[in-house]
Amino acid sequence: GLPARVRIHEVGARDGLQNEKTAVPTAVKAEFIRRLAGAGLTTIEATSFVHPKWVPQLADADELFPLVSDLPGAALPVLVPNRRGLDRALALGAERVAVFASATESFAKANLNRTLDESLAVFEPVVRQAKDQGVHVRGYVSMCFGDPWEGPVPPHQVARVCTALRDMGCDELSLGDTIGVATAGQVRELLGLLNERGVPTEVIGVHFHDTYGQALANTLAALQHGVTTVDASAGGLGGCPYAKSATGNLATEDLVWMLRGLGIETGVDLGRLTATSVWMAEQLGRPSPSRTVRALSHK
Ligand code: HMG
Ligand code: MG
Repeated sequence: GLPARVRIHEVGARDGLQNEKTAVPTAVKAEFIRRLAGAGLTTIEATSFVHPKWVPQLADADELFPLVSDLPGAALPVLVPNRRGLDRALALGAERVAVFASATESFAKANLNRTLDESLAVFEPVVRQAKDQGVHVRGYVSMCFGDPWEGPVPPHQVARVCTALRDMGCDELSLGDTIGVATAGQVRELLGLLNERGVPTEVIGVHFHDTYGQALANTLAALQHGVTTVDASAGGLGGCPYAKSATGNLATEDLVWMLRGLGIETGVDLGRLTATSVWMAEQLGRPSPSRTVRALSHK
């Protein structure tokens, strides 16, 4: 059966905006996050404490986070790639952080300038220190299904990274289809393998991109497996800087439309969310790619 409730992990302000060409002023980002919270989203990834040269779009993390950190009712996880990132996040009172590993060597190198094992070795003390301070830790795994340089990714390779992150103490995982090539059968296979390797479904979130229009089908396969945490990006913001054809994350509106039809609770007000994405699209100067945003805003 399907879950009664799904927790949406909103990534538009981070994964979305980090991949937009347009530089968004800090005050606009803060307003975006406030409007997302106003639409009923309770987990809103705010920004990344990464090297500003690597992701210039999020170089204002230290200015942005204090503008939103007291928002009532919303948890605001932030990405940290290393000790330096964690220190910056903790200094501003972050209560949830995420490390981000890769299932492939190529992307570990491109994204973190490290081999896969070197990056896991960097994360280990970061996760430990965060846990010691009572901070919730998410572990992302990118390129879980396909990689732009390596092609299809063997599930056992993904499982190894997932179990390493769990062994470090990550509270939850997010399985990223970073370039949006997965299909539903692969999702079932990976989730089944993770369970066999001792990773419980309760700690698994899914993170789909919609390059081939499969993000909702993949999400449904994950829900049927028992997954209850789904990542999505308001208005379908973003893309992937390393793969030209890759589109943005699954749009939160598309997700909410499907879940509402299935009678699955999310707490999200679809009208307010769509209005937020229309507003953000105006800030960016391009229309939202989300089918649901377009359908609901062209009346
Ligand atoms: P590096 O150049 O190897 O860093 O980059 P380093 O450790 O050699 O340090 C070099 C300099 O950077 C030093 O400064 C450090 O202090 C500084 P210097 O002493 O030379 O003046 N530095 C920092 N400054 C600010 N904040 C920091 C930080 N760390 C070092 N945190 C590094 C290694 C990891 C830092 C770099 O590669 C980086 O920032 N990468 C992040 C890239 C990124 O954010 N990518 C997007 C993530 S999205 C993703 O992965 C997929 C996901 O969305 C899921 C999906 O969609 O599927 C999660
Ligand atoms: Mg993404």
